Amino acid sequence: MTAPLADMSPTKQFYDRIAKGYDLLADSSEHVPRDRGLVMLAPQIGEQVLVIGFGTGHSAAALGKLVGPSGKVAGIDISQGMLDVAKKRVADEAPGAPVELELGDARSLSFADGQFDAAFMSFTLELFEEDDIVRVLAELRRVLRPGGRLAVISLNKTEPLTVAEEIYIYLHRHFPHFIDCQPIAVEQHLRTADFQIAQAEHMDLWGLPVAIVVATT
Ligand SMILES: C[S@@+](CC[C@H](N)C(=O)[O-])C[C@H]1O[C@@H](n2cnc3c(N)ncnc32)[C@H](O)[C@@H]1O
Repeated sequence: MTAPLADMSPTKQFYDRIAKGYDLLADSSEHVPRDRGLVMLAPQIGEQVLVIGFGTGHSAAALGKLVGPSGKVAGIDISQGMLDVAKKRVADEAPGAPVELELGDARSLSFADGQFDAAFMSFTLELFEEDDIVRVLAELRRVLRPGGRLAVISLNKTEPLTVAEEIYIYLHRHFPHFIDCQPIAVEQHLRTADFQIAQAEHMDLWGLPVAIVVATT
């Protein structure tokens, strides 16, 4: 029997509360690796792309323009606050683009097997505990077509840990509702989930390692 999914209402409430101020808090630093991830994913005209945890909607709007009217971007996020901000951004920045955003949980996707050519996930996989990372990647693998691409941008766990990582992991352990994510071994998780790493780049965000990885099914 599959274990029931852990309750994510604290996460949902946290993002509902900060949705309107999120870009002020995080976007000045996060947009650089996120934009690099979009370039590395290289979305093509006409492709069907899924965005997981779209947040304030920057990547959904950009992808909507890149796939053009013959393509489609579907996005899910657990937070109604983020959905409201993202819908407004897409309407303002990519009017008429084929983008459909809805509430959803990355651990249990409502999409059909093999439906997408590509998927994009920035600063979201590292919010999940180990068991749920396995679930999320299995769901992504299921909804991507054979040869489909997945871009993951995430805080990355290095070996040995840097001092900044150690501090961050300590803060996450003690104040999980304030520091809600932690560095994860991105490439290792992808390989375990049966993805092949196609391209990986690394950069620093406030002294913390970030991985930008494109993997294929
Ligand atoms: C740190 S934010 C990153 C937002 C955006 N991807 C970016 O790069 O700016 C994480 C996002 O993941 C969403 N999220 C958290 N848990 C989720 C889940 N189980 N399913 C879908 N989205 C989730 C949050 O609501 C939030 O919008």
